[in-house]
Amino acid sequence: MPQPAAAHDLIFYFVGVTTGSSFANKMFPTWMELFGRPEVKLVGIDHKIHDNPAAYRATLARIKDDPACVGALVTTHKLDMLAAAPDLIDYLDPYAQITREVSAISKRDGRLEGHAFDPITAGLSMDAIVGKDYFARTGGHVLCFGAGGSGLATLLHLINQPAPGDRPARFIAVNRSQGRLDHMRRMVESHATAIGVEYIQNADPARNDALMAALPAHSIVINATGMGKDTPGSPITNAGLFPTYAIAWEFNYRGALDFMHQALRQVEARHVTVVDGWAYFVHGWAQVVGQVLHQEVTPALFARLAAAAAAVR
Ligand SMILES: NC(=O)c1ccc[n+]([C@@H]2O[C@H](COP(=O)([O-])OP(=O)(O)OC[C@H]3O[C@@H](n4cnc5c(N)ncnc54)[C@H](OP(=O)(O)O)[C@@H]3O)[C@@H](O)[C@H]2O)c1
Repeated sequence: MPQPAAAHDLIFYFVGVTTGSSFANKMFPTWMELFGRPEVKLVGIDHKIHDNPAAYRATLARIKDDPACVGALVTTHKLDMLAAAPDLIDYLDPYAQITREVSAISKRDGRLEGHAFDPITAGLSMDAIVGKDYFARTGGHVLCFGAGGSGLATLLHLINQPAPGDRPARFIAVNRSQGRLDHMRRMVESHATAIGVEYIQNADPARNDALMAALPAHSIVINATGMGKDTPGSPITNAGLFPTYAIAWEFNYRGALDFMHQALRQVEARHVTVVDGWAYFVHGWAQVVGQVLHQEVTPALFARLAAAAAAVR
């Protein structure tokens, strides 16, 4: 659990759903030693999913007005927080302007700045999983359950890939509410992309099984719904079959991880490769902490941060 900060400490807020259970609490003190900032302490703020705008505004005001606060990392609430309080943030980086999400809230000369790092960090994680030219080599598509902040960021990363072989022919986004799909469609329409993006409003796992069954081999199936961590269950049923040679990518690394376990049961029979959200987590935290502390995360520092995170996992 995060410890209350002492009077001389500086505070780094962690805005999430169940922040007390995150590995970040164990990792953060070691990371602050590596950044040379041991006086910075992590303090969690939990919001329920799709919390009231007033609650998000209160959190942002707390970050802005507390002189001991250096900034914050936002997970899950990246879209809702910005939607609730765009007027409280003085600067948005280009990715935050495109996606309308903020994962890092930092301070500069008394101004509050919002950055969206997920297009970078989801991208770094995906590149490490698939390597160069994956879609040209395999013909796989992407099926993404969840069109919230991280699903949107993953799609933006793919749209921005300069080499055609690094872009899938099809990206199918499935989301429970229509609003998130409409938001994604607006983002896609503001870019010229050859990726065929499909938007499916659905929360029925049986229908998701059918979508999965229609994919070509080597497709990437992503669970970006938060199911199996933030909420119970999985977007697919136990009978759902992954495409052969699929990559099953669970965006979380903790919780019941039902989707990941469903995929693990198909590793041998269907040659499924299963990846959890650990690398995404480490990249995400490293970029956000670097931004909030205004320190560059060099490859050498990232290697030390990743090793320290692995040691406390
Ligand atoms: N490893 C990491 O570092 C890392 C990084 C980013 C995200 N994540 C994890 O990934 C998950 C998603 O994060 P996020 O930031 O994208 O959250 P988000 O913005 O809340 O997006 C989640 C989306 O999933 C949709 N959804 C929920 N249940 C669904 C269902 N049964 N069927 C279809 N869609 C459903 C939600 O739709 P509604 O609009 O209907 O609510 C929402 O749009 C979280 O659990 C987060 O912790 C992990």
